[in-house]
Amino acid sequence: MNAPASTDLHTDPKLFPGLDVYAVAGNPISHSKSPAIHQRFAEQAKQQMHYGRLQPEVDAFVAAAKSFFSAGGKGMNVTVPFKLDAQELADVLTSRAQLAGAVNTLWAKEGKIYGDNTDGAGLVRDLLAQGITLSSARILLIGAGGAARGVLGPLLEQSPKCLVIANRSSAKADELVKIFANLAAQHEVALESRTLTDLENPLITQYPFDLVINATAAGLIDESPLGSKAVSNVFVPSSFAYDMVYGKTTALMQQALQRGARVSDGLGMLVEQAADAFLLWRGANLATAIDPRSVLAKLRS
Ligand code: ATR
Repeated sequence: MNAPASTDLHTDPKLFPGLDVYAVAGNPISHSKSPAIHQRFAEQAKQQMHYGRLQPEVDAFVAAAKSFFSAGGKGMNVTVPFKLDAQELADVLTSRAQLAGAVNTLWAKEGKIYGDNTDGAGLVRDLLAQGITLSSARILLIGAGGAARGVLGPLLEQSPKCLVIANRSSAKADELVKIFANLAAQHEVALESRTLTDLENPLITQYPFDLVINATAAGLIDESPLGSKAVSNVFVPSSFAYDMVYGKTTALMQQALQRGARVSDGLGMLVEQAADAFLLWRGANLATAIDPRSVLAKLRS
């Protein structure tokens, strides 16, 4: 017997007559907090909708998403490992999705599938809500994969003083500097790349950072991308360390705490990117009806 192309966890729109149906697609997906977040937004904004989970096989996202939309599905959030597949699937991309190189939000409109990326806007709003000043800040972004690329545009638009992209291997970080050079120049940001090894050298690192964002996959396996020499070059007590991973104090957060810096995990980014997706689907006029910070507080309690 063939394995099913996707595990449909109550997302078939036909099961919910009269309701607009949304889903989050990822593999694995059982841990996802997105259904709880969107249910809360729907209650706050008095929206009748259903939001479920979809777990396509790793090579079957496009087929699963097409069948969801052709059955009447209204919109989809997309998470690991399908954000590139979602970009390819979309008929129309927003400019920030093009720049991000990935899509985390899809919706159907007039026979077409639209794709956007709300991750970077979500990160920026969470940082601002936590009182972090981004304009004129010195920012270190660790990682040069999809997660880093997804947030670079919105970070540059906040006009930090400088943004250093540090990665294990230099080629990917150099590539991101090239892709974002124009946007950086437009906002007068000094955009540079470094290797993680460079960060261990005080002559190359030159100054500590106001904000250090971990966008590598290292947090997931309880490793920090920073060695101990880099830690003392990068952090001072006034620094703020942000890890995109959520639900635990990661190794990088522990290093920052030991240097007296403040820290945050990425749960607020998750909630804020979901808020943007909700408003894209249900209407920007609902912006004042939803309260992402109260949803975040509830998730943390
Ligand atoms: P994602 O979409 O989550 O960003 P990705 O595109 O595969 O995933 O990128 C993973 C990023 O995490 C890369 O920047 C990778 O560094 P390399 O480009 O050098 O591979 C980084 N990464 C993964 N594991 C890491 C680790 N243990 N230490 C440091 N960086 C790590």
